[in-house]
Amino acid sequence: MTEIENVVVIDGLRVPFEPGQTILEAALAAGVWIPHLCHHPDFAPHGSCKVCTVVVNGRNGSACTMRALPGQEVASATPEIQERRRTLLQMLFVEGNHFCPGCEKSGNCTLQALAYDAEMLTPRFDHFYPNRRLDGSHPDVLLDLDRCILCELCVRASRDVDGKSVFAVAGRGGDCRIVVNSPTGRLGDTDLAIEDAAAHVCPVGAILPKRVGFSVPIGARVFDAGPISEVSPHLARTEDGR
Ligand code: SF4
Ligand code: FES
Repeated sequence: MTEIENVVVIDGLRVPFEPGQTILEAALAAGVWIPHLCHHPDFAPHGSCKVCTVVVNGRNGSACTMRALPGQEVASATPEIQERRRTLLQMLFVEGNHFCPGCEKSGNCTLQALAYDAEMLTPRFDHFYPNRRLDGSHPDVLLDLDRCILCELCVRASRDVDGKSVFAVAGRGGDCRIVVNSPTGRLGDTDLAIEDAAAHVCPVGAILPKRVGFSVPIGARVFDAGPISEVSPHLARTEDGR
């Protein structure tokens, strides 16, 4: 009997996987880049941003939630899929107030780095210009929901790592937003501590530690070193440097 190989083929590359791994986990472990935004290796898959969308055996799917299976043919780096990712990123940019020149996270921001990588030159769509409440009530942490992309990493970190459930999602559709679990709804009235994982997991500039702003000079920020496909902390390095 022929033994079934635990291998998927991604853009022509043979990628081995462990049973139970997702396509994204297998790809990143093998040093193969698939863009992703709401995925973080320390947390359960979430599948909300769709930036990791790939075509698997001819059908669209999220690489971060689809299990790797033998015989899968995965397309990720085609111009069509990159164009879809660019559109998703443009939608995220116009839905919030992502004015990078005035944002402390610039250069360290996953959304901005993915947009650079996808060669996003314009927002294309009309801006929504939301006016959500800025919460500066916490002594050590600022919450600016105009920059939130609803990845729920803060929700997952607070609940699953910190054991506090400081953050949750409320509302539907365009009114969907992150809320804070305190009687006043203010961050300063929660037990969030600056040491908590939830205070540092935000991939954009929505949750920021106070009093450390602009401390890293231009040129020394994470994504100044190269495209996110080369400097992502989630990407394993192979011996040939791929
Ligand atoms: S505040 Fe940050 S971590 Fe939380 S959902 Fe929004 S973007 Fe994600
Ligand atoms: S990384 Fe897969 S849906 Fe966000």
